[in-house]
Amino acid sequence: MHTLAPVAVSSDPVPPTARTNTPSVLFVDQSGQLGGAEFSLMPLAATWGASREVLLLSDGPFRTRLESLGVPVSLACEASVSGIRKDTLRLNWLGALPGIVRQVRAIARHAESFDILFLNTQKALVLGALGKPLHRKRIVWYLHDVMSSEHFGPLQRLVVRWLTRYAVDHVIANSRASADSLVTLAHCATEDVPVVHNGIDLEAFSRADAPDMGALRRQFGLPENVYLAGLFGRLAPWKGQHIALEALARMPDLHLVLVGSAMFGEEAYEKALHEQAARLGVQDRLIFAGFRDDMPAWMQAVDVILHTSTEPEPFGRVIVEGMAAGRPVIASAAGGVTEIVNHGRNGWLVQPGNPAALVDAIETVRRAPAMASALVREARAEVAKRFSVDVYLERMKALLARAGNGGKADKSA
Ligand code: UDP
Ligand code: GLC
Repeated sequence: MHTLAPVAVSSDPVPPTARTNTPSVLFVDQSGQLGGAEFSLMPLAATWGASREVLLLSDGPFRTRLESLGVPVSLACEASVSGIRKDTLRLNWLGALPGIVRQVRAIARHAESFDILFLNTQKALVLGALGKPLHRKRIVWYLHDVMSSEHFGPLQRLVVRWLTRYAVDHVIANSRASADSLVTLAHCATEDVPVVHNGIDLEAFSRADAPDMGALRRQFGLPENVYLAGLFGRLAPWKGQHIALEALARMPDLHLVLVGSAMFGEEAYEKALHEQAARLGVQDRLIFAGFRDDMPAWMQAVDVILHTSTEPEPFGRVIVEGMAAGRPVIASAAGGVTEIVNHGRNGWLVQPGNPAALVDAIETVRRAPAMASALVREARAEVAKRFSVDVYLERMKALLARAGNGGKADKSA
């Protein structure tokens, strides 16, 4: 990446990097809610080996989670800025300008006592990078999105392109798919966007909370003695819960549980899902479970796990979690998913947005329990090998140490 601002100069007489090889980091995240980007930040912030703080641009359960892990958290909230949505970023953001300026300044002020500014979400990127002339810190951006026109409006894409070229020092992408989308958008070199996949706690997801599936279902009020599919994740149009409902309507003896809530202003979609269920006459075989904290147990309570995103999923933590939970996973073949699931070996891939293909896949997995068990075995091995928290932290920490070292490899390591 090229930088407009001069090389970082700390006002601290002894720069933190001179005292230890591990740079100090200010992590910034726009959300107080618990989404995938926030879950991925937790182990990194919790185990960071030097001074660190998380600055949140909205309050919510994410703050409490971080604090319970012993991570220092600060807040810099501006309601007018939180109201700007990624896909509708237009000139109406002008009304939020005073709030934007305040948040840019707040981030810059907080960044003063750290070596690195780690930006974990789109708004954190924009606000943190705009303040570079004020804080002059090295900026690392963890990209969690596919930067396509399906996911983002033209103005947001233009701003990201400009900031990537002129203000961000290092980008790390959550998948090759996300990385490639940025390479296309910002015309940067592929080797400038290294990939670090999320890591999942295999042990936590494979631990059974109840002696058997029947006990789990009773505990959660789920129907017993039926074939139950589970779809895990926030309710949002591009996550494709409506595709699963279409499939449900075509499979009269299938039951489905949707675990997750509308988190980022997608309440209208939740309402539309209820209306769709009523129209299709599937309400008696459909459960809306809402947001749940005990995902491993919910995943183990179902027979098959569905992932139905209609747009390329940047990564898809829920897929890896499902693989770790020991249930066969059927997932939409696009984006980062194809870096996780190998069709017929550790999971089953389907064409995105195609209910008929989803029905076929569910039938196939259901009719071949031996094959489903083989998929699960391979899936767990894959998670242990490629998607562990240890692998994630090791790669992330190496890249951050390098960023703290001005982009050069740390010879003392
Ligand atoms: N999740 C959760 N409870 C829910 C729904 C989702 O804890 O009811 C978690 C899930 O376990 C996963 C994350 O939220 O770790 C969603 O991440 P993912 O990458 O799948 O999707 P995102 O929402 O970030 O696009
Ligand atoms: C984002 C993406 C999701 C990814 C998560 C963690 O929220 O939508 O696909 O798994 O970040 O990187």
